[in-house]
Amino acid sequence: MKGFYNLGELATADVEKLVARALHLRAGAAPRRFEGKALGILFFNPSLRTQASFQRAAGKLGVDLVQLQAGGNGVWGIECEDGVTMDAGNAEHVREAAPVLGRFVDVLAIRAFAGIQSLDRDLRDALMNGFRKHAGIPVVNMESALWHPCQALADWTTMDLYEIPRRAKFVLTWAWHPKPLPHAVPNSTVCMASQRGMDVVVLRPKGYDLHESILAEASALAKANGGTLTVTDDRESALKDASIVYAKSWASLGCWGNTEAETAQRAGLREWCVSPEWMKRTDRARFMHCLPVRRNVVVRDEVLDGPWSIVIDQAENRLHAQTALLESQFASLERKSQIRAKSPVPLELPQ
Ligand code: CP
Repeated sequence: MKGFYNLGELATADVEKLVARALHLRAGAAPRRFEGKALGILFFNPSLRTQASFQRAAGKLGVDLVQLQAGGNGVWGIECEDGVTMDAGNAEHVREAAPVLGRFVDVLAIRAFAGIQSLDRDLRDALMNGFRKHAGIPVVNMESALWHPCQALADWTTMDLYEIPRRAKFVLTWAWHPKPLPHAVPNSTVCMASQRGMDVVVLRPKGYDLHESILAEASALAKANGGTLTVTDDRESALKDASIVYAKSWASLGCWGNTEAETAQRAGLREWCVSPEWMKRTDRARFMHCLPVRRNVVVRDEVLDGPWSIVIDQAENRLHAQTALLESQFASLERKSQIRAKSPVPLELPQ
């Protein structure tokens, strides 16, 4: 099943088609309707933009929406590791939960962040990949441990909306934050800008590199699409001639799961907060952030409220990009004849 896990899995021409469709939808084009089909959205983590925009997109496409939330009185705790004895907190395994949901809906969207406890588990993207493996229907990634492809698609859409040239300089900057945050957004951002063929600079203090596998993927995407990728801690040179400053905080890979070590490492880095002085060193750059953002921690009020910021358009484009994406997912299902209700199979015991 195709689904949508990581933007970089799509050919650049296919991303361009989705972005063009998102911009048509934004300009008022009517989405296709898929009455009788259903979308499931399951959140293991909080959300404002993703939740609201997927709900709204479902309405625009005329599909039924099954909305589920984990935790509290939501769905059962779901185990995703194979071969475990389930005598702890989780009551259900993804091997049952995913295919059961796959019998109720036609496309399933999942949000499952990195736990930032086990780097191995987060790099395996264990819960998201459990759903992808077992659902039997297309699964859309609404932010996993590794990727936030819907955000990346909306961000590309936003840069096209603002007519940011393909070869413009794109700076992804680390910012201070009181908590260690997952890498899904910076991973998807650096790969998206590289796939768009931009001159991408990752500006970060020492100790805050993205994972080598992500930088390798971004580098390959840049090479294939005519862009460049640079990693630096030299703010002056990074900001010079920049057209986009994209801020995000992320945890140190070297301190993964060790909050005390992380706190000690980022002590002294509080001045990594995007200010008007940063923006004035650029080439009239636009400021982007996926939101939610902590004011005067990640970015100063004067930037967010000033002429540089395009974060509200960026958030709005989540709706148009996801409507385009879901439209293509449901359209591709229409082209396949699916037998959803499975017939009972005869019992055959092992010899
Ligand atoms: N950017 C983003 O995914 O926002 P939410 O976490 O509010 O959905």
